[in-house]
Amino acid sequence: MAEQKNILITGGAGFIGSHVVRLFINQYPHYRIFNLDALTYAGNLENLKDLEGKPNYTFIKADITNQDKMHEVFSQHDITDVIHLAAESHVDRSIADPTAFIYTNVIGTVNLLNAARKQWEGNFDKHLFYHVSTDEVYGSLDDGGYFLESTSYDPQSPYSASKASSDHFVRAYANTYKLRTVISNCSNNYGPNQFPEKLIPLCIHNIKHNKPLPIYGKGENVRDWLYVVDHARAIDVVFHQGKDGETYNIGGFNEWKNIDIVRLLCKVMDKKLGRAEGSSEQLITYVKDRAGHDLRYAIDATKIMEELGWKPSLQFEEGLEKTVDWYLQNEEWLEHVTSGTYQDYYQKQYN
Ligand code: NAD
Ligand code: TYD
Repeated sequence: MAEQKNILITGGAGFIGSHVVRLFINQYPHYRIFNLDALTYAGNLENLKDLEGKPNYTFIKADITNQDKMHEVFSQHDITDVIHLAAESHVDRSIADPTAFIYTNVIGTVNLLNAARKQWEGNFDKHLFYHVSTDEVYGSLDDGGYFLESTSYDPQSPYSASKASSDHFVRAYANTYKLRTVISNCSNNYGPNQFPEKLIPLCIHNIKHNKPLPIYGKGENVRDWLYVVDHARAIDVVFHQGKDGETYNIGGFNEWKNIDIVRLLCKVMDKKLGRAEGSSEQLITYVKDRAGHDLRYAIDATKIMEELGWKPSLQFEEGLEKTVDWYLQNEEWLEHVTSGTYQDYYQKQYN
């Protein structure tokens, strides 16, 4: 008989979390999935509409900074495993105000580790704490080289410093208390349901509405992009096959300069919107650079590919087109998230 698990997925109403929750609900009907999310500006239950009413799905609205609540959730639902994604995730917000990043990303993670430790005491070998992290903890690369699992941490933004700190706590709990843990560090994700403060959905939204496309600095910074469903597939593989205490880098060997991505997006959208070729490129506007802007991220994903047999399923151009189609077909979703508090943030960031 298939093994029963009660898996707590944190941050499941966010971008990546919603794809992970969907994959686990559909692929593993014998697991009970508890999606715990505080529903901050980035959390949106509309991302999971198709899962409402599924018998193996429960949503819990809670804040991971609340230690007592975390203990209660673990004991009430007899949580057997954790996939931890809840985080403050946007670098620009972390520059504007780092404090929330320390509360959620550092203290929130430690609260979950404490709750897991208490609940699983004496039985650690039967339970897994999977911490989802980012390649940004490794810092910034020049033109050459890749981030390996053995690369030293060198975080450069308040966001990456808070994620690096949370990774260190996870490893410290594994070493000190013998909690079974695994960590993955992934490159930039793109795809449906990403909040339009991040580069790709922001540009899709602005191209559609003929608004300026803000390119920080010269647009020469390089990011390594992975389709979000491929990240969710990797998380599935690491959760089920990853070795205790190990780290896995996840990425698609897919580096792009920001300006090249935005030009490609303009081209794809000109076609989809029936605009004259080259017209959306006129919207490109160079703006003040991000403070301390990391130059290049590039993941060496050989370990997860060779040891766990994972590889990305989509080419970038195909994934980008799927993403554009999703945003064009889900105008209501975009309208809902671009109203209210997001508008206030947008005004502050770009005006
Ligand atoms: P997101 O901002 O879209 O979603 C974060 C989710 O966490 C939201 O649903 C939000 O409501 C929830 N949340 C925030 N604070 C909370 C709190 N205190 N308590 C409970 N829930 C809270 O983020 P994302 O892009 O989906 O990223 C998910 C995870 O993956 C993060 O840990 C991030 O560091 C990591 N990651 C992201 C990327 C990327 O490109 N987006 C790449 C690598 C790793
Ligand atoms: P972002 O999507 O915020 O992800 P991250 O900072 O985690 O890599 O940004 C991706 C790249 O795009 C990054 O180099 C910053 C740049 N960028 C812009 O040029 N303009 C923008 O408006 C945004 C949001 C990002």
